[in-house]
Amino acid sequence: MPLPSRTIPGASRSLVWAVTLAGLLALSWASPAPLARPGVSRVASLSTDFGVRVFREVAAASGERNVAFSPYGVASVLAMLQMAAAGETRRQIQDSMAFSLDEWGTPRALRWLQKALTDPRNKDVVDTADALFVQRDLELSPGFMPHFHRVFRQTVKQVNFTESEEARRIINSWVQDRTKGMIQDFLPEGTLDHMTRLVLVNAIHFKGLWNLPFPEAATRERLFHKLDGSTLSVPMMEQTAKCNYGEFSSPAGVEYDVIELPYQGETLSMLIAAPFELDTPLSALTNIIDSQLVAEWKRNMTEVTRLLVLPKFSLESEADLRGPLETLGMKDMFDARKANFSSLSDQESLFVAQALQKVKIDVNESGTEASSATAVIIYARMAPLEIVMDRPFLFLVRHNPTGKSAFHRITES
Ligand SMILES: *[C@@H]1O[C@H](CO)[C@@H](O)[C@H](O)[C@H]1NC(C)=O
Ligand SMILES: *[C@@H]1O[C@H](CO)[C@@H](O)[C@H](O)[C@H]1NC(C)=O
Ligand SMILES: *[C@@H]1O[C@H](CO)[C@@H](O)[C@H](O)[C@H]1NC(C)=O
Ligand SMILES: *[C@@H]1O[C@H](CO)[C@@H](O)[C@H](O)[C@H]1NC(C)=O
Repeated sequence: MPLPSRTIPGASRSLVWAVTLAGLLALSWASPAPLARPGVSRVASLSTDFGVRVFREVAAASGERNVAFSPYGVASVLAMLQMAAAGETRRQIQDSMAFSLDEWGTPRALRWLQKALTDPRNKDVVDTADALFVQRDLELSPGFMPHFHRVFRQTVKQVNFTESEEARRIINSWVQDRTKGMIQDFLPEGTLDHMTRLVLVNAIHFKGLWNLPFPEAATRERLFHKLDGSTLSVPMMEQTAKCNYGEFSSPAGVEYDVIELPYQGETLSMLIAAPFELDTPLSALTNIIDSQLVAEWKRNMTEVTRLLVLPKFSLESEADLRGPLETLGMKDMFDARKANFSSLSDQESLFVAQALQKVKIDVNESGTEASSATAVIIYARMAPLEIVMDRPFLFLVRHNPTGKSAFHRITES
C-alpha cells in the first residue's frame, strides 16, 4: 500500500525539541557504551528530567512563543551550584534535581555522561564545557577547589569583578569561543558589578550533519499554520526518505506523531513531535515529556517511507531561569537572607542574583548547528540590608525628655 505523504504542520512549533539535542536525544539512544552502565544511565535520566522540568516551566512562561532550551546546560550549572551550597539551600537543589553529588558514583556518572556526549566517534560534534569564574580575592572554603576539580575536571578561573566590564568581556569571550562564535555578548551590560563574586557557566556547541541531507533544490516556500489559525509563508525543505515514525496519544487523549531524523554517526538524532490537530497547543506535549517517554517513543517507532517536509529555521531564545527554578522549589538560593553557600566560602554571605540561558539554533538542508550558554551569577549580600517603607505605616514622634508621643498614620502618599 502506498503510504500517504504527510507534512509536519506543527514542526516549527516543535522547535522546542530541537535544542534538547545534547541533553535529551542522546540519552534516548542506548548505544553509547557508557550510558549502558546502570549508574550512568540513572544520573543521565535524572539530570535530563530535571532539565526538562525547568524547560516546562520556561515554556509555560513563554505562552505560545517559540522556545529553544538546553536541559543539559541547566542541569550542569545546577550540579555545580549544588556543590557550592550548604544546608537548606543545598537540600532544595538536591530535592529538585533528585540526585545528590554526595551519593557514591554520581560524580563519576556525570563525567561519563559528558564523555558520552562529546565522544569523537559520535561524528556529530558536541562540545560542552563548564567554568567557574570567581572573584580573585574571595576566600574559598578549604577543600572546595580540589573537590570541584575532581568532579568537573575544571579549574576555577579567577577574575576581578571590580573591573566589571573587563570581567564581562572575559566571560563572554569564553562563551563565544566555546560556542564557535554562535553566542556573542552572552552577559548583557550591567549584569556584573563590584558585588559579583562568582559566575558559573556551561556552554554547549553542537553541529550535526543529517544522515540524509535534504536536496537544496527542493526547498520552497510553503504555508505554515500557526496556532491562532493564521498562516505564514516559510521556506520548507523536503525529501522522500525512510525514517522512524510513530503515532501516539497523550494521557489526556491528544494525538500526535513523532519523526526521527538521525545525524551522521547515528548516535544523535532530532526527534520532532507535533499534535495532529492544528489548534492543539504544544503544551499538550511539553507537559508530558520526560526521558522515559522519549525512550518509549524510540521503542514504538517503526521505519516507514515518507515525504518529509520540514521548515528551515533559525531561532534565538533567552530565558530568565529564576521564576522556573523557584517554582521547582529552589527559593532560598535567590534570597539574600536565606541563601547558604558556605561550602564555597564562609567569608561572605552569598546568594544567586541571576540565572539565565541563551540558545541559538539553525536548521537547514545539511544539518543543525546549535549552541547554548547557561549561567548563574552569585553576588555578595549588600550590607546593610535595605528596609523599604513602601506600605502603609505608622509613625510616632516622641519627645524624649517627657516621653510624650504624637502618632501619625500614613496610608497613601
Ligand atoms: C549553612 O549550612 C551549614 C551546613 O548545614 C550550617 O552549618 C550553617 O549553619 C548554615 N549557615 C547558615 C548561615 O545558615
Ligand atoms: C580589582 O580591581 C580594583 C580596581 O582596579 C583594584 O583596586 C583591586 O586591587 C583589584 N583586586 C584584585 C584582587 O586584584
Ligand atoms: C508502545 O507500545 C506498547 C506496546 O504496544 C504500548 O503498551 C505503549 O502504550 C506504547 N507507548 C506509547 C507511548 O504509545
Ligand atoms: C547550513 O548551515 C551551516 C551552518 O549552520 C552552514 O555551514 C551550511 O553551509 C548551511 N548549508 C546550507 C545548504 O545552507
